[in-house]
Amino acid sequence: MSKALVWDYPTRLFHWALTVGFTIAFAIAVLAGHRSAWFPVHMILGLALGVVAVLRIIWGFVGTRYARFGSLLFAPTALAGYLRGAVTGQAPRFAGHNPGSAYATFAILALTLITAGTGLLMSRDVEAAEELHELAAYALAAVAVVHIAGVAWHSWRHRENLAASMVTGAKETEAADEEIASPRPVAGIVFALIIATATVGLFRNYDQQRHETKLPLLGTPIHLGEEEHH
Ligand code: HEM
Ligand code: HEM
Repeated sequence: MSKALVWDYPTRLFHWALTVGFTIAFAIAVLAGHRSAWFPVHMILGLALGVVAVLRIIWGFVGTRYARFGSLLFAPTALAGYLRGAVTGQAPRFAGHNPGSAYATFAILALTLITAGTGLLMSRDVEAAEELHELAAYALAAVAVVHIAGVAWHSWRHRENLAASMVTGAKETEAADEEIASPRPVAGIVFALIIATATVGLFRNYDQQRHETKLPLLGTPIHLGEEEHH
C-alpha cells in the first residue's frame, strides 16, 4: 500500500467551496430564517453554490481520471455489493470514488442545482418552487450527513484519515500506477478566480432596496427573494 495522488486541485477546491458554502447557507436558512438581515447572504451564497456545481460538472467531462464522470459510473448492483462489504469490512478499496461515494457525488451535484434553481424561481413567483426548494435542501443535508458518516466509517475501518485526502489529494492505493499525472494547478487557479469573482461580484452588486443583484461581468440583473403579495 502506498500514497498516490488521486484528487486534482479543482476537485479539492470545489469540495471545500461546496462544504463551506452549503454549511453557511443552510445554517442561515434554518437558524436565522428568511426574515433575518442575514438572508441576502443565504441567497447569494446559494447562487455561488450553483456556479460551483456547474463548474464541477464541466470538470466531470474534462478533468483528471477520478474526477471524470466516466469513473463514477457504477451499476446499482455494485452499490449494493459495496455497501454490504462496507459493513462487514470486506469491501475492496478504490483509488478514486467507491460506488457509494460515486452515487453520493451525483446526488449532491443534482440536489445543489435543484436547490439553487428553485431558490431563483421563488422570486419569479413559481408556486412549487418553495416546497421543492426546502425538500431539495433538506435532502442535500441528509446526503451530506450520510456522506460524512461514510468518510468517518472508512477512516476508522481502514485506519486512514480520509478527510485529509480531500486536502492533500493523496490516498492509500494498492498500486502505484493509479496516480493522476498532474494535480492541474493552472485549472485550479482559474476555477478559484471564477468562483471568487462570481461570489464577490454578487455581494458587491447587491441592492438592498430593490432585492436585486447583478451577474458580475455580464451585468444581468437577478431578483432575489420571494415576490411579496399585498
Ligand atoms: C467536514 C465534512 C466533510 C468531509 C471530511 C468530507 C470528505 C470527503 C472525502 C474524503 C471525499 C472523497 C471520498 C472518496 O474518497 O471517494 C469527499 C467527496 C465529496 N464530498 Fe465531502 N466531505 C465533507 C463534507 C461535504 C459536504 C457538506 C458536501 C456537500 C454539501 C460534500 C460533498 C462532496 C462531494 C460532491 C464529493 C465528491 C467529490 C468530487 O468528485 O467532486 N462533502 N468528501
Ligand atoms: C444550494 C444552496 C441553498 C440551500 C442549501 C438552501 C437552503 C434553504 C433551506 C433549508 C430553506 C428553508 C428554511 C426553513 O426551514 O424555513 C431555504 C429557504 C429559502 N431559500 Fe434557500 N437555499 C439555497 C439557495 C437559495 C438561493 C440561490 C435562493 C435565492 C436566490 C434561496 C432563497 C430562499 C428563500 C427566499 C427561502 C425562504 C422560503 C420561505 O420559507 O419562505 N435559497 N433555503
